[in-house]
Amino acid sequence: MKDGSMTDVHSHLIWGVDDGSRSLDISLEMIRMSVAQGVGRIVCTPHYSEQFHGYNKAQALEKFEQLKAAVGDECELYLGQEIFGSEGMLQKLADGELLTMGGQNYVLIEFYPWESVYNIQRMVREVEMLSYHPILAHIERYEALSDEKKVMELMEQGAYMQINCSDICGHLFDRTAAYCKRLLESGLVHFLGTDMHDTKHRAPKVKAALKWMNSNLDDEYVAEICSLNADKMLRGERI
Ligand SMILES: [Fe+2]
Repeated sequence: MKDGSMTDVHSHLIWGVDDGSRSLDISLEMIRMSVAQGVGRIVCTPHYSEQFHGYNKAQALEKFEQLKAAVGDECELYLGQEIFGSEGMLQKLADGELLTMGGQNYVLIEFYPWESVYNIQRMVREVEMLSYHPILAHIERYEALSDEKKVMELMEQGAYMQINCSDICGHLFDRTAAYCKRLLESGLVHFLGTDMHDTKHRAPKVKAALKWMNSNLDDEYVAEICSLNADKMLRGERI
């Protein structure tokens, strides 16, 4: 991984297992597009939800190995999962059936955009009781977390926060972009992701976000959210 490059902790590159990439070639193109914008390391996070009955862990592991072999040194790849927060997933997590971030004790969790803060807090507590550190995926999407105080409370509870790079730079009156920038300026973000699904509609978009962050945020903080926090996560160390 090149010095100063970004780690994308949220991506859908494992083809044919969720609504992300549809072939190895598309995944390779998505990786090329990412590398060209300054990404040096990617965690592949296929969806796990109780609603996707066809999920197969062995298939995800096999395709991840194929992808890694095809990419070579171009980009460092790790495997994780985007886990939909539900009661049933807790048992699956406890049984070791779900994929953790790079095989370490961090898990990426998503919720419905309308999920209550009470349920998010409860899920964070339950995941921690299983000895995992929860990373909340694209927190800019949740109505309940549109109040920065709630984000801070969850951080105090031990949760880590991820936002999508594509949401940081919107148009002039884009409320989501304004909120992402406020979160970044307040130091309430730990990880960045592209949440890329394909090469067109949900392609990797990091260039504008990196430019904005490098011009508006402290260098040390940018280094933390771009790669230093991910270094710790992938070594299983506490951030
Ligand atoms: Fe995602």
